[in-house]
Amino acid sequence: MAYDTSDTDSIVDETEQAENSVPDEVAIEGDLPLTAIDIESQKDMKSGRYHPIRGFSKWFAARPSPAVRLAILGSVYPIEKMSDDKLLRLMQIGPKQVDSDIAEYVKKKYNESKSSSDSVDDHYEYPNPNTQNPSKKELAEIREDIMDEWGGEMPTILDPTAGRGTTSFEAIRYGFPAISNELDPVPCTINKIASELAPQVGSVEQEFRSWTEDIIIEHKEEYRSIFLQKKSIVRY
Ligand SMILES: C[S@@+](CC[C@H](N)C(=O)[O-])C[C@H]1O[C@@H](n2cnc3c(N)ncnc32)[C@H](O)[C@@H]1O
Repeated sequence: MAYDTSDTDSIVDETEQAENSVPDEVAIEGDLPLTAIDIESQKDMKSGRYHPIRGFSKWFAARPSPAVRLAILGSVYPIEKMSDDKLLRLMQIGPKQVDSDIAEYVKKKYNESKSSSDSVDDHYEYPNPNTQNPSKKELAEIREDIMDEWGGEMPTILDPTAGRGTTSFEAIRYGFPAISNELDPVPCTINKIASELAPQVGSVEQEFRSWTEDIIIEHKEEYRSIFLQKKSIVRY
């Protein structure tokens, strides 16, 4: 929005208006189920489990997606409309059938994980939250909880140093308008693809897998020579 700086009254009016259309206190200012979110973040940082955007290209210091989801929901949700169970459920943490004490459930599973031989998802009994979108019902619930408190609009999520754009990707996933700012063209390109194309196109995982298989079958012989063969590895 452009302000006429000679008209200080209008700037004061706009500022007062903005202050009146935000919640008095947001969820991130209160107590949070941080141990459960930390456990989920550790799971998220394991190879092959992290956010798909991180797989595009190596870049600096991406946050684990649970931390990103927490930052987004916690910064805009009025504190009185949030609870630990609701936050974790909206973050897609915990099995669907567990609707209370989700944080305790996650901690218990974590403590048991050292002696478990199951895969991570089998052990915790819910899918990797990264792979889960909020349901239509949850998106409607978020809108209803938030919009009135933000002057009748969904607040815009800004990441001023956005990197590959995990924050804007997750903001869009949760139904918020998003703005990313980034100076480097490499993460900018990834960010643009993830934030603008992905919501239009949806998941391309199946197509990606079938193309990969086709390429491997058709071109195996051509690229065989550029990889080290087992017998050529020298041990020192
Ligand atoms: C730690 S990374 C981004 C992490 C991202 N916010 C996240 O949560 O996953 C920091 C990014 O800030 C960018 N950056 C640094 N200074 C900047 C500036 N003045 N304007 C825009 N981007 C900047 C860097 O290029 C880098 O990609």
